[in-house]
Amino acid sequence: MLDLFTPYKLKGLELKNRVVLPPMCQYSVPAKDGIATEWHYLHYVSRAIGGTGLIIIEMTDVEPDGRISDYDLGLWSDEQIPALARIVDACHSYGAKVGIQIGHAGRKAEDAPVPVAPSPVPFDENSKTPHELSTEEVKAMVEKYRLAVRRAVKAGFDTIELHGAHGYLIHQFHSPLTNRRTDEYGKDRTLFGVEVIRAAKEEIPADMPLILRISAQEYVDGGYGIRESVEFSKAYRDAGVDIFHVSSGGEGPIGAGGRPGTHAAYQVPLARQIKEGLGVPVIAVGRLEDPALANALIGNDDADMVAVGRGMLKDAYWTLRAAEELRKETAIPKPYERGFAIKR
Ligand SMILES: Cc1cc2nc3c(=O)[nH]c(=O)nc-3n(C[C@H](O)[C@H](O)[C@H](O)COP(=O)(O)O)c2cc1C
Repeated sequence: MLDLFTPYKLKGLELKNRVVLPPMCQYSVPAKDGIATEWHYLHYVSRAIGGTGLIIIEMTDVEPDGRISDYDLGLWSDEQIPALARIVDACHSYGAKVGIQIGHAGRKAEDAPVPVAPSPVPFDENSKTPHELSTEEVKAMVEKYRLAVRRAVKAGFDTIELHGAHGYLIHQFHSPLTNRRTDEYGKDRTLFGVEVIRAAKEEIPADMPLILRISAQEYVDGGYGIRESVEFSKAYRDAGVDIFHVSSGGEGPIGAGGRPGTHAAYQVPLARQIKEGLGVPVIAVGRLEDPALANALIGNDDADMVAVGRGMLKDAYWTLRAAEELRKETAIPKPYERGFAIKR
């Protein structure tokens, strides 16, 4: 019987447990040049000390105008590598594995003078109208992803997550509402994502799994649902995605048809359907901070890993606490042993 503290292995990635820190932008911290700061170091390393199996560093962008705001991280320059490598090394020394989410905000790049997108469709009436990428510019964008992934490998990351969710660039390409192109990237709306995946696969070691985060359901009027996302995700799986990280929404103003849940496990049915429909491992996310619930998802085979976001903003030691609550063995850092009832 599997549980939250059963180690996980896929290719060369070996996790001591199935708890994931999902990518979460730290915005408020000055990272104007896209370089990780002391805050990022302390934030991520605390969660490694806190027992997390896999830490995924926040959305890190492939070009300056690909950032949601100028306070986001980047990997468009070699100068951005050392600060990330320092975080990776320290997290490793506390037993965590580390991934990084590589992305581009596309039309959701709020501080970009002119954001770019597949089609000149603004996010809402208050947003800038994006510049429609030419076919050549789309191809050049794939190469920007490639170089960012190359730098991430140099920084020592154990896995890469491509951001294909929340209405950012890859999502903007596969969604029919934001991709009205007539070139090859419009005729096949998954082509951009597929080319990014192939480029990433060429850059990462053969035994490194590649993760793709997707929004498995849209909430705008006329948006796609789980049936469509199972279908289009097959192209991503076949291009080389090893693990799907299943989220939802973020593509535009919420329509009349429903909004994301706020209840526990609100996205788990989507994760389960992606897992079953594609035959791939999945990370489930979304209000999973109750340890018994997180544990049950693994035991019931709803998901292979469980990400706890806001729960870990509140508590860097969430994983240690979960082990204590579930009475599971896990390594407690020696200086903290007396704070926990469970023993090594
Ligand atoms: C402050 C904050 C920043 C976030 N930044 C990102 C991000 O960089 N990339 C991403 O894919 N999701 C991001 N998210 C979404 C989370 O990864 C996660 O999917 C979401 O919070 C739901 O999980 P939870 O209920 O455990 O918090 C962010 C969420 C929060 C609260």
